[in-house]
This record gives sequence, structure tokens and C-alpha cells, in this order.
Amino acid sequence: MHETRVPRRRRFLVCEPRHFAVQYAINPWMRPDVRVDADLAHEQWRSMLTAYRSYGHDVEVVEPVAGLPDMVFAANSAVVVGGRVFGSLFHAPERRPESTHYDTWFKTAGFDVHRPESVCEGEGDLVWTGRYVLAGTGFRTSREAHREAQEFFGHPVISLTLVDPFFYHLDTALFVLDDDNIVYYPEAFSAGSREVLARLYPDAVLATRDDASAFGLNSVSDGRHVFIAPQAEALAARLDERGYVPVPVDLSEFLKAGGGIKCCTQEIRS
Ligand code: ARG
Repeated sequence: MHETRVPRRRRFLVCEPRHFAVQYAINPWMRPDVRVDADLAHEQWRSMLTAYRSYGHDVEVVEPVAGLPDMVFAANSAVVVGGRVFGSLFHAPERRPESTHYDTWFKTAGFDVHRPESVCEGEGDLVWTGRYVLAGTGFRTSREAHREAQEFFGHPVISLTLVDPFFYHLDTALFVLDDDNIVYYPEAFSAGSREVLARLYPDAVLATRDDASAFGLNSVSDGRHVFIAPQAEALAARLDERGYVPVPVDLSEFLKAGGGIKCCTQEIRS
């Protein structure tokens, strides 16, 4: 049997979906005419907070801003490793104003914020593994930002190319289980990037298109508990076999904007 997986307490930053809506389309999941059920979205988002808190994680909130419907996707605002905050510069003009609001939150919380010079969408594309940063490009974050992040953090940044527009951010195609392993959907990556991932993580959990389409790759793990979309049933079963504990959190309203659990969750690593 497996070793017992050990959770590590996390500090998360989230943003209430008070102004969440689908008002423009910047990824293939978004249909500007689709109505979001605001009450259901709130209820789902609160259930995510309850789940995090019930497993002992700290959750802090940033004040939402009217007119910024995607601000709820806190992961895109920055990537924080070792107390260093690498801010964001959004690809879509509609989202650009979000950065300053998050920067203000970080500054108030006592952090310096580095503003990237090229397009970079935070933890959407820059994923800290515990050893290095896996960095996605192809749809949003630029390769130039990968170089800038490596210079800023002083940790190796490994560039990976995304090729499927439905999985436009790295965090829609891959997530970190713990310091030793990841889960990913291989077909979302270029052939060379798949080879890189196979070399780095020969024991990775490989997900199917169904898992990915249910946003099962947009999960948050504390090393033991994996907060995951309940629709990603097959993946949850495989994680269970590997000794992880899947904790279902249904954010179906947010999928209308191409978002899920991880998109709504920024991790602050001191
Ligand atoms: N509508 C948002 C966008 O397309 C969703 C962002 C999802 N965030 C994420 N970390 N994948 O920008």
C-alpha cells in the first residue's frame, strides 16, 4: 500500500464573485450571451472556502471591483514563491485593470510586487512545483515572461507549450500533487513539452480528455487532499488509488467563464 500522504497547511487568496459574469469571450468556454446564476455561483464559491477551512487552510479575500467580472479568478493575478510576488500583465485588455487591485492587496499585506514587463497571467501559467516553476505559453503568458520569472525568482523555469485552445492556461492542463508528483493531460502539450514532462515526472498521473474537459486538472492539492471538480470522477478515483483524498468542490457556474477551483485560488507561499 501507499505511504500516508501528509498535507501541508496553505495560505490562499480568493476574490468573492460579487461581480462575476460572462460579458466577453476570451477563451473557447465563454459565450457572452450565457447567463450566470449569481446565487448559485456564490453558493459554490462559499463551499470552496468551507472546504479549504475545514482542512485547516487559511483563506484571505481581496475586495472585488465592479466592471471586472473575471477578477474572481485570483490565480491569474500573481505567482508567489518564497515571499516574492511576481505580478501580472493580462493578455486581454478587459482584464488588465485587475492587476493593480491585486498589487494593492499584496502591498497592504506587506509584500513588494514585481510588475512583469511582458504578458504574464500569474499562477494560470506559472506553476510552482516545490523545486522549479513549470511555465505555460502558447495562448496567454509570453516566453519572455518565463525568462523574467526565472531572473526574478532565481529558480529554474521550464517552458512548456500549450497547443489546445480549450486548455489555454497551464493550470487547466496540469496540477501539482506534492513536491514529488503532478497530474497532467498530455494532449494539451506540444510533443517536445510532453517529452519534458515525461522525463521530469515518469510517475505522473496522466489524465484523459474527459478529466480535462470536466476541469479536473484545475485542482488544488495540499499534498493529501485534492480539491477537485466532482465531474472529474475517473481522475478522482485514480488519485484515491494513489493514496490522495479527493475532496469534491463543484464550481460549475465558473466553467461558463473557463474557470475552476485553481483559477479561483491564489497560493501565497512565504
Ligand atoms: N475567463 C477567464 C479568462 O479567460 C478565466 C481565467 C481562468 N483562470 C485560470 N487560472 N485558468 O481569462
